[in-house]
Amino acid sequence: MQINGFSKLSKKDKIDWLLNNYLKNSPEAKDILLQYWHNDQDLQDLHDGFIENTLTNFYLPYGVAPNFLIDGQHYAIPMVVEESSVVAAASKAAKFWSTKGGFKTQIIDTVKIGHVHFKYEGATADLIQFFRKNRQAILASVNELQFNMQQRGGGIKDLNLIDKTSDIPNYYQLEFKFDTADAMGANFINSVLEQAAETLNYLATLELTEPLHVIMSILSNYTPDCRVKVEVSCPVKDLSTNEMDGQTYAEKFISAIEIAEKEPFRAVTHNKGIMNGIDAVAIATGNDFRAVEANAHAYASSTGRYTSLSHAKIENDRFIFWIDLPLAVGTVGGITAIHPLARFSLQLLQNPSAKQLMSIIATAGLAQNFAAINSLITSGIQKGHMKMHLNNLLNFLNATDDEREKAMDYFSDKKVSFNALKKLLQR
Ligand code: MEV
Repeated sequence: MQINGFSKLSKKDKIDWLLNNYLKNSPEAKDILLQYWHNDQDLQDLHDGFIENTLTNFYLPYGVAPNFLIDGQHYAIPMVVEESSVVAAASKAAKFWSTKGGFKTQIIDTVKIGHVHFKYEGATADLIQFFRKNRQAILASVNELQFNMQQRGGGIKDLNLIDKTSDIPNYYQLEFKFDTADAMGANFINSVLEQAAETLNYLATLELTEPLHVIMSILSNYTPDCRVKVEVSCPVKDLSTNEMDGQTYAEKFISAIEIAEKEPFRAVTHNKGIMNGIDAVAIATGNDFRAVEANAHAYASSTGRYTSLSHAKIENDRFIFWIDLPLAVGTVGGITAIHPLARFSLQLLQNPSAKQLMSIIATAGLAQNFAAINSLITSGIQKGHMKMHLNNLLNFLNATDDEREKAMDYFSDKKVSFNALKKLLQR
């Protein structure tokens, strides 16, 4: 079905058009959409305005993982995620490590990068000379744009011409480096780049003999120099469980990490578990989790082979477990101040700086990874998942409190399945 001017229809008319054309005018389908409209019209208008063609709201659970000790400070970390067990796992890992000195973090750097991608058909040497002569002029042309950012302690840190002709004929970049202070900085960076591209174009028409074509101007979501490291450690003997002594546990844990370091099939699942924690906090704090994801996975493959983002070793009878990854997040700008729950999350986290938020988010990732590996090398992950899964199935089947209690009891030592549960409830 094709339509012109869909975006200009009112919300009600958009819904009617969709119901008419795709949903056989089902009143149930309409009810599903309408039941998620917020009663508070101002709040609904705010959400409607975030994107185009909004029909309703899509809820995800907003949970919290308490008992995090990060760099000596206690945190309850907000997490938005639909997958059962993620918040419970983070909380469990947080509690475990809080009794062992907590998570120690280190910001490695906070440099962000953006490029004007262009082609020049003349000699490289001429372009280099042109760039040397005009570098200051290009910087001067974007100076006004960085006024606010400079007030906040950030700004443009460097500008270079990069010769990429060995990758693509005639291809060069203006590479800007930025400090975006507490902002993620995408709007600032892209504005600077687009203005720089205009200046480049203009100067090129005046001074270069051969044609220069700007292709595009855009920040890079890959920020290997905006990076954080988080570490936990404890005496090996403190890792003993009912089934394993500390040394056996640590060695098994390190083997699991080594497999993720060497085997991409495992590394993807391993890192996915890390991103369970990282994305959940990124979303709760109003950050762009797609950018966070892309960045992490590019870094995980920076050696040419996709590998684990976390690592572990034993040194002087201490078990050391750490993560090192790029994270470009902000605590101002974007929707951080506009979405009431993003604002609430930042308040809950004691209004962190962007650097502190990098530490908190990476910690959530490491905690998640610890919990996953811990389950995998001991009980397996299904045990924990199944309890939550059973709960979801009981909700789906509208079980009564009595049925719920009986089902929990029945499945305490059996595998949960939809059919088995249905049979039990029917009985
Ligand atoms: C599930 O969402 C995440 C895990 O698969 C991660 C892992 O295997 O390390 C449990």
